[in-house]
Amino acid sequence: MAMPRTVKMVEVGPRDGLQNEREIIPARVKIGLVDRLTLAGLSVIETASFVSPKWVPQMADAARVLEGIRRGEGVRYPVLVPNRQGLEAALAAGAGEIAVFIAASEAFSQRNINCSIEQSLERCADVVAGAAARGIPVRGYLSCVLGCPYQGEVAPEAVALLAGRLVELGCYEISLGDTIGVGTPGRARALVREVAGRVPIERLAVHFHDTYGQALANTLAVLEQGIATVDSSVAGLGGCPYAKGASGNLASEDLLYLLDGLGIETGVSLTGLLDAGNYICAALGRASGSKVARAMGCPEPPRPLEKVQH
Ligand code: HMG
Ligand code: MG
Repeated sequence: MAMPRTVKMVEVGPRDGLQNEREIIPARVKIGLVDRLTLAGLSVIETASFVSPKWVPQMADAARVLEGIRRGEGVRYPVLVPNRQGLEAALAAGAGEIAVFIAASEAFSQRNINCSIEQSLERCADVVAGAAARGIPVRGYLSCVLGCPYQGEVAPEAVALLAGRLVELGCYEISLGDTIGVGTPGRARALVREVAGRVPIERLAVHFHDTYGQALANTLAVLEQGIATVDSSVAGLGGCPYAKGASGNLASEDLLYLLDGLGIETGVSLTGLLDAGNYICAALGRASGSKVARAMGCPEPPRPLEKVQH
């Protein structure tokens, strides 16, 4: 199959990128990040998660962030929702799109959302029904598709079955998450082949964490199969608090550099992404996790959060 001519980049930095940060980042900094990502031309920016603040304290200000951003025309700002309570809070804060999440590994499901896979599907059914009744589109995440930090291997057939069930529930798109970044191109390709037997490839997205440095190679492998939606995180931020050792997502700057090089359209500006990356790295006092950003000479000023200006 030929490479797609356009790719939808789904920016997950403000949610996946920041959820694992220990020091609480002020809402104004999170808003500043989302606004810069909007200026960079991204069409989908996952902005926050409405999960339990006891489980993920960093996302406790999700409503303030969602309410504070400057929305770009035609830009979507989905938020992650684990249950009815999260859905109601997200809608009250003005969410126009949500994402639900389940895992392909029983052990990870228990650790991440405190229930079995089957129970999580029941919760999702409830959330999706509530969203559908209000005309809110729902994306579905499936975690641990290429391996689990607790139970090791995950069968591609099991992933395909669960992806199919999320579609039956009403998710318009399924994002396949390599939560701990253990996948390699051959396995990523085999997985997509298997899942595409149940879910049309146009409705599949990939979500690679870069723990083992394979995210960009995996992305290229599945682009060649026709995948045209790719999740990434500015400056390569990220990690799941319930997947020990999971490092950042594929860096958005690195993904864009690859796509630009292949002549694939995204509508995203590299300069804009570099600006957003500089901003959040300065706020965190950390060097960028993007190789492209580092190669292009982005500074690494370790400035404390409260000194960052918008
Ligand atoms: P639980 O403790 O079983 O839930 O957690 P509960 O219903 O018993 O509620 C316990 C308390 O949490 C109650 O408060 C609820 O009100 C509150 P209390 O009465 O004790 O004061 N609560 C909430 N508060 C705010 N918003 C809510 C909410 N729900 C309950 N929505 C639960 C179950 C699912 C809530 C919890 O396990 C949780 O929030 N987990 C989220 C974990 C998480 O966010 N993980 C990271 C995101 S997934 C990810 O990163 C992977 C992904 O990137 C893809 C990939 O990489 O593979 C998507
Ligand atoms: Mg993730």
